[in-house]
This record gives sequence, C-alpha cells and structure tokens, in this order.
Amino acid sequence: MKALILSGGKGTRLRPLTYTGAKQLVPVVNKPILWYGIEAIVAAGITDIGIIISPETGQEIQVKTGDGEKFGANITYILQDHPLGLAHAVKIAQPFLGDSPFIMYLGDNLIEDSLDSFFTAFKQQNLDALILLRKVSNPSAFGVAKVDEQGRVLQLIEKPKVPPSNLALVGVYFFSNAIHQAIASIQPSARGELEITDAIQALIDFEKPVEALQLKGWWLDTGKKDDLLEANRIILDTRLEISIEGDIDKESQIIGRVKIALGSKIINSTVRGPVIIGSGCHIENCFIGPYTSIANGVTLLEADLEHSVILQGAQIKSIHQRIVDSVIGQRAKIEVTPQRPKALRFLIGDDSHIELT
Ligand code: DAU
Repeated sequence: MKALILSGGKGTRLRPLTYTGAKQLVPVVNKPILWYGIEAIVAAGITDIGIIISPETGQEIQVKTGDGEKFGANITYILQDHPLGLAHAVKIAQPFLGDSPFIMYLGDNLIEDSLDSFFTAFKQQNLDALILLRKVSNPSAFGVAKVDEQGRVLQLIEKPKVPPSNLALVGVYFFSNAIHQAIASIQPSARGELEITDAIQALIDFEKPVEALQLKGWWLDTGKKDDLLEANRIILDTRLEISIEGDIDKESQIIGRVKIALGSKIINSTVRGPVIIGSGCHIENCFIGPYTSIANGVTLLEADLEHSVILQGAQIKSIHQRIVDSVIGQRAKIEVTPQRPKALRFLIGDDSHIELT
C-alpha cells in the first residue's frame, strides 16, 4: 500500500497568503496542514508516500517537509506542471504508484477519524474504491454522492448546482490499480480538469466494487479563511498539550491550556488558553484570548486578540481594539500611533481584506 498526497494546485481561495506560499503549508496550531495528513498516513502503517507538488510552491514544500525521515516515512516528490485536476495528478504519479493500491489524500484536508478502520474495510472487501462521505450544509462546493437506502453509491457529481444529497466527498480516497484504467476513460470537465469524481463514477459504471463510508468525526477542508480558523479552533481544543518553556514574568498570567515554546518572552500580559505560542516571540502588555495560534518570531505589543492565527514574524503594536477572527500573514505589520489616529496609512498586498468594525 502506498499513499499519494496532493499538494499542488493554486490555492486561490486563501489569497493573499498563497501568493507567497503553498496553502498546504499554512499552519494550523503552528504545524503545516499537510503534516497532519502525513502523520495520519504513517499512523495507518503506510510509509511509502508520494507528494504531488506544483512548480510555484513545490520547492518550499520539499524544503520544509524533507525526505520523510522526521515522520518515519519515505517521501517521493512528483512535479505536476499545471493543476489539471485530481485525476491528472494520479495519472502523472503512475510511475511512482505502479500497480500498488493506494490512499489518496488531499493536502488541504484534515479529518479527525484515524484511517485504520477505513483501510481495513478497503482491504477486507477487496474494493476498487472506498470513498468517505460527510453531511455538509453547502454540498454545491464539493463532490456530492447520491446513495441508495443501503448506502450504496449510485452517482457522484462534482460541484453540482442542484445537489442530489447533502453528502460531500471527503478528500481521502482508497483505490486499487483499477483507478488508472478509469482515469484513462474520462475527459476533462467543464472547468478543464480531469476530475477524480468522474473517474470513480467510471468505476461504478464498469460495475467495479465501490463503497462509501461516512465519517464520524469532524472534517475540515482548510481552503478558506473561516475553515482555517475553525481547524485551528478544533485542533487547539482537542490536541493541545500544556507546556510552558518560554519566560513568563511575574506580572503575567497564564490561564488554562497554553503551550509556549522556548525563547519566547511574555511580559505583563494575560494568556487565556487554549493558545499556542511558538519560539522567539515577544509579547508585552497584551491579552491573548482563546483559540489563538502565534507562530515563531512574532512581536505583539499592547495588543488584544482572540480566535486568530498569527503567522511567522508578524508584528502587531498598539492596537487597542480587540482583534478577532483574523489571519495575519508572515512578516505583516499592524501598528497604530498615536492612540487615536487621525489618519490610517496602509501598504497592503493584493487580495488583502481589512475590516474596521
Ligand atoms: O475537499 C474535498 C473536495 O476536494 C471534494 O469534495 C471534491 O470532490 C474534490 O474535487 C476536491 O475539490 P476542491 O475544489 O476542494 O479541490 P482543490 O482544487 O482545492 O484541490 C484539492 C487539493 O489537491 C489541494 O491540496 C490542491 C491539490 N491539487 C489540485 C489540483 C486541481 C493538485 O495537487 N493538483 C491539481 O491539479
């Protein structure tokens, strides 16, 4: 059994963060989204992993993720020149996959369930495809499955305008080598992509064994800001382990589940968990509220924030209103001088979004 993680694509929905980096490397609780997928795959006993990368962000993914040693895996990088679809990614990965069955994992998806029980079901039932489904309130944004009363998959449609059900296809799939023939039989969709949804539909049409199981735990597709904040909230809630290694002065208060890495200074501030703070941060005269992740090298002076994700090297100074529901990019600076500004001065990248409410 091998694994194929799809980490190419353009990440348009997470702009502007994805102008300068891969969306799969955007951190959730200070760890790239992609790494959660790698860890889940290794936990299921699969260590031969191929990762699809794009020319724009592939190098960053390779440098940060490495050859797999730190995960106990062996990673092969596969360059996809253009994002021509999920099934196209499988096609170009064929030399890596050979005839092996494989799990395909979308690098921007996070699921709570461990992969073990699905992997067992896939093997025991000798399936050509096992797909995972989850009820959603906005099925038109996903691949959607129509199932019969016994839960058998009748039809799969990619991003239908009129969805036949509210069961979305989760970005984790198990395939036998039969998927390659199915991919060879399909044509690009209206959006110009070779859709994996169409390839699985082809397996159904060939009367190959295809089953669906419903996820029990949460599923997050981190492609947009609110999804990213939600992923951050859930992981902080469920997986954060308390550890205080940074320097906390006597005037500061640390409340609840908080993790602060070595080399960070907290001065005259309150940190109310769940909160994670990376290394090399300087936090002074601040309130850091629940569901906040602060990456390495961040400076916060006289700031008040909660339910936010602050990326590496960002600086926030003298903002006296509370910052909420925010994602602040790497090295971004937000500063207010004096306390009641007469004018606001901006240097803001394309697709940035500022709300003064
Ligand atoms: O998240 C689940 C959904 O993922 C499914 O419900 C849909 O059926 C499936 O088509 C897919 O839809 P998205 O529109 O969300 O896919 P996205 O373009 O975001 O790509 C998913 C991942 O695959 C992402 O990490 C980028 C990568 N990718 C994408 C394309 C199109 C590639 O590596 N190569 C590609 O050509």
